Amino acid sequence: MSITIQVTNLQQGYGKNVVLRDINLTVKGGEIVGLIGPSGAGKTTLVSTIMGMLKPQKGTVTVLQQRMPNRKLLGKIGYMAQTDALYNSLTARENLKFFGAMQGLSVAELKKQIPYAAGIVNLNADLDKYVKNFSGGMKRRLSLAIALVSNPELLILDEPTVGIDPELRQQIWHELQHLAKVGKTILLTTHVMADAEQSDQLMMIRNGVAIAQGTPNQLIRNYQVTSVEEVFLKAGRQQDAHTHNG
Ligand SMILES: Nc1ncnc2c1ncn2[C@@H]1O[C@H](COP(=O)(O)OP(=O)(O)O)[C@@H](O)[C@H]1O
Ligand SMILES: [Mg+2]
Repeated sequence: MSITIQVTNLQQGYGKNVVLRDINLTVKGGEIVGLIGPSGAGKTTLVSTIMGMLKPQKGTVTVLQQRMPNRKLLGKIGYMAQTDALYNSLTARENLKFFGAMQGLSVAELKKQIPYAAGIVNLNADLDKYVKNFSGGMKRRLSLAIALVSNPELLILDEPTVGIDPELRQQIWHELQHLAKVGKTILLTTHVMADAEQSDQLMMIRNGVAIAQGTPNQLIRNYQVTSVEEVFLKAGRQQDAHTHNG
């Protein structure tokens, strides 16, 4: 499989503040990679850098064989930001039309793709409602539908399952697994262990450092524990011990 995302020796931060240190990540085509870590760990900073919204302080990011930042690639990436960027005075359908058209979809494609994307997140019955009347969870679902509407080869989803109930979460995961099977690449962030367990590859981030990387099963074996959650806790304790010893 080809390499879709390559992050090499990345250091990233804001001004003089260093948030991420020495991050190396390879995401292959057709893979689902989960970035897992507590709030403030640096997950959003990493996906924003991969999207090209932040220029690396050190190191390089390559997406679909192009060095980032690169505006031309944005049309090929379905991006769901952690903070919903929706037009509240428009309906859900109008939002999907607007963002789909921005991604280059024709009227005919929009007609086919909008019900598909809305269906995955159970929003078909709400398509003609105004977003200002949506709950937080509905806005999250609409943001995910927008990321899916253009059928992009790469999906970058920042906390896609926040505020989404377990049943719909499963339905969404079912579709993400299907998309990966047909060759789409998916990078997502989460602090939910259930999401992490569904990923093909995991990168655990804590205090801006990758503390563990591998498939869920590899990690569970290597750390001699029985769950992804225990891997995270054990790797975290090892990081603390290392930091305190100097
Ligand atoms: N725009 C910003 N300016 C300055 N500091 C930021 C900015 N965004 C995030 N940070 C800081 O970077 C660190 C990592 O944040 P973030 O990447 O959002 O973590 P996560 O997504 O894992 O919760 C935090 O300490 C946060 O306060
Ligand atoms: Mg975040």
